[in-house]
Amino acid sequence: MAVQPWYAVLGHPVKHSQSPRIHKLFAEQTGRLPLQYDALDIPPEDFGKRIREFIAQGGKGFNCTVPLKELAFQMADETSHRAAQCKAVNTLVVRDDASLFGDNTDGVGLVRDLENNLKLNLANLDILVLGAGGAGRGILGPILERSPRSLFLANRTADKAFDLLKDFSGVRDFYAGGLHDLEEKQFDLILNATSASLRNDLPALPDTLLKPDGICYDLAYAAQATAFVQWGRLHKAALSVDGIGMLVEQAAEAFRIWFGVLPDSAPVIRILQKEREA
Ligand code: ATR
Repeated sequence: MAVQPWYAVLGHPVKHSQSPRIHKLFAEQTGRLPLQYDALDIPPEDFGKRIREFIAQGGKGFNCTVPLKELAFQMADETSHRAAQCKAVNTLVVRDDASLFGDNTDGVGLVRDLENNLKLNLANLDILVLGAGGAGRGILGPILERSPRSLFLANRTADKAFDLLKDFSGVRDFYAGGLHDLEEKQFDLILNATSASLRNDLPALPDTLLKPDGICYDLAYAAQATAFVQWGRLHKAALSVDGIGMLVEQAAEAFRIWFGVLPDSAPVIRILQKEREA
C-alpha cells in the first residue's frame, strides 16, 4: 500500500504554529485536499533521528522554525543560493532518493508582504534592520536585491552587525553599527528582526528614529500588538504592523516549492487577521 505523502513544521516549541492552518487553507484553495501537514515538536538533539523517521513514514517536505533553521541548513544535502546566503533553511524537500534540498523563503516572504500587500517601493526608502541574529541575516539578501536608497543594520552587539556587513562587501549604501549609532539618524522603514518581541521587549531606540509617515514592521507576530508595534504607534508611524503577512507569504513560497503552484496569500492573511481580532 502506498504511504500517504506527509508534510510538517518542525520546531521547539511548535504548539502555537499557524503553519498547519495556513497550508491547509492553501490546499483547500488550490484543490489539493486532503493534505497531511502537522506540527512536530522536536528538540535540536533529536533532529537527525526524527527526520529519518519522518521520511520513512512518507515525509515529502517540511518547514523548520526556531531553533532548528541553522541545523536544517547543516543537514541539507543541497541548498538554494538564498539559503546558503543566510546559512539557514526553513523549507525542505525530500527527494525521491531521500536526500534533502533546503531553501529559505523568509526573505522573499517579507519582501512580498512589503511590496504586494503593503504597496511599498523599497527602492525609495531608507531602511533600518534591527538585529543581526538569524532573523536579520535571513532578510538582508532579498531586501538588498530591491536596491533600497540605503540600508542600515543595527545590533545591540555592534560587532555582529559589522561581521554580517562583511558578507555583503561591495554592496552600495549598506551600513552597520550598534544601537548607539542610531542617534541623529532617521528612517522610512524600520524592520525589527530582534528576538526581543518574543519576550514582549524591544531594543532601546531614540524617539526621533522614524521619519514622519515612516513605517514600523515587526518580523515577529503575536496575538496582541508586540512591544515594537506599540512603539511604532506611539511614535506616529503611518503603519505599524507585525509579521503575520510575512508568515503567510513565506508559507506560500514553501507551498509553491512543494506543489508547483503559488497560492493566493491575500485571503489567507485576511482570515488570520479576522480570527485574531475576534
Ligand atoms: P533569531 O534567530 O530570532 O534572530 P538570535 O540569532 O538569537 O535569534 O538573535 C537575536 C537577535 O535579537 C540578536 O540580534 C540580539 O542582539 P545581540 O546580538 O546583541 O544579542 C537581538 N536582541 C534580543 N533581545 C534584544 C534586546 N532586548 N534589545 C536589543 N536586541 C536584542
